[in-house]
Amino acid sequence: MAAWSGDARESEGDRQEREHFWRVVNAFRYYRAYALERVRRAERELRALPPAHRRLLRDAALPGHLQCVRARVEHNQELLHDIILGTAEHMFENKRYRPLALEAEPTPATAFDMDKLKSTLKQLVRDWSSEGQGERDSCYRPILNAIQTYLGAASGHSGSSIKSNGNSCCDGHSSNGSNNSDGCHQNHRHQQQQENEQQQLNEQQQLNEQQQLNEQQQLNEQQQQNEQQQQHNHKQQQQQRSPRVLVPGSGLGRLAWEIARLGYSCQGNEFSLFMLFTSHYILNRCHEVDSVRLYPWVLQFSNTRRAWDRVRPVLVPDVDPSALPPGADFSMSAGDFLEVYSLDMDVWDCVATCFFLDTAHNVIAYIELIWKVLKPGGVWINMGPLLYHFENMVGESSLELSYDQIRQVIVQVGFVFEEENECVHATYTENERSMLRYIYDCVFFVVRKPALKSECS
Ligand SMILES: C[S@@+](CC[C@H](N)C(=O)[O-])C[C@H]1O[C@@H](n2cnc3c(N)ncnc32)[C@H](O)[C@@H]1O
Repeated sequence: MAAWSGDARESEGDRQEREHFWRVVNAFRYYRAYALERVRRAERELRALPPAHRRLLRDAALPGHLQCVRARVEHNQELLHDIILGTAEHMFENKRYRPLALEAEPTPATAFDMDKLKSTLKQLVRDWSSEGQGERDSCYRPILNAIQTYLGAASGHSGSSIKSNGNSCCDGHSSNGSNNSDGCHQNHRHQQQQENEQQQLNEQQQLNEQQQLNEQQQLNEQQQQNEQQQQHNHKQQQQQRSPRVLVPGSGLGRLAWEIARLGYSCQGNEFSLFMLFTSHYILNRCHEVDSVRLYPWVLQFSNTRRAWDRVRPVLVPDVDPSALPPGADFSMSAGDFLEVYSLDMDVWDCVATCFFLDTAHNVIAYIELIWKVLKPGGVWINMGPLLYHFENMVGESSLELSYDQIRQVIVQVGFVFEEENECVHATYTENERSMLRYIYDCVFFVVRKPALKSECS
């Protein structure tokens, strides 16, 4: 029986998960309060200035600018509400949460959660805006190229997926006009007979039309069934033949989506609810290009060259996320990579990691699991820096290996290097108008889990 998450029967793990879920929902709702407090601080600073300084700023129209910031904050809050309202309760196939009640005021969220929320907005720029194209080219393009090089063309490539819409025949009803009486005069004696005949003709015509309608309906149903069957077969064939790619730490899902768009069978995996809520919103509820407006830089007060840069909008998505080729096999799994895939063995043809390795408490555990889940002969493609996420977190374990140490582990585990580039310039959620810009010198590599001897011969 389906139970609401929150029942007395739930386990300790489920309770923690439920509390975490509501904590993240609360953070999405707390944005306005958090952001407006920041704006009020700027307003207070302005008011506290000596009159002479305020006079100097007269032409800068600062109060008006801060009003504009407020309006942008309100807009972002509406978007964040939209994301959780239509998404959060229905998102998981195997979990149900109570419908969101938005009447109660959100409670103050932690600075950590608010940082995550702000990064989620910036992540939308990286993954789903035209502005993020350059960044995606630097991070995702080398991975996509390597997938095509090492896995070969995918069987489900969009070029081969032509959808039959079945409209090439039966485009009209056959005419019954030939049965019409042409209205020539009959003598009176024959009138009754003529009327009878006419009635019979009409009835026959009605019967014919009904029969034609039925046949047409049957034809349509048959056609629909055929199409469904074709799609099902196509998907099955694709699952059987298309190389399977796993993308752990998939963020807002664009890389995984691009891989599926190329025709590979692809699963993204992500454990952050901030990311999962937002990717679900983009992937399932946004069908029109540039239909969603957000202001990702509105709380970035430092390193702004022009005041307008701070309040400028960004539009998403730059593509229709539902426009994958018919039969494409694309999915997202929610949960910790180390747990979700712990039982997989020799399952995936490729694991693609992008800015992911450094999210580990212990990167060796990631490497071991990647080895295990890959089929013999499969490849691991990696791109990213080593900005260890847990390095400065109190109470969290963190093993900060250098790249040469990681490389040794990779080789020790049994991987063979196919390709390696230790200096690939890439950015991450970059504000292209900011006066501060980080460029990572990422390491890119492709390593192979060797095929079994029997498979080689
Ligand atoms: C730096 S982001 C990179 C996201 C994406 N690959 C990209 O390039 O935009 C790392 C992502 O990995 C996710 N992540 C971290 N540890 C994870 C784990 N153990 N299992 C699944 N996802 C994880 C984080 O939530 C975050 O979204």
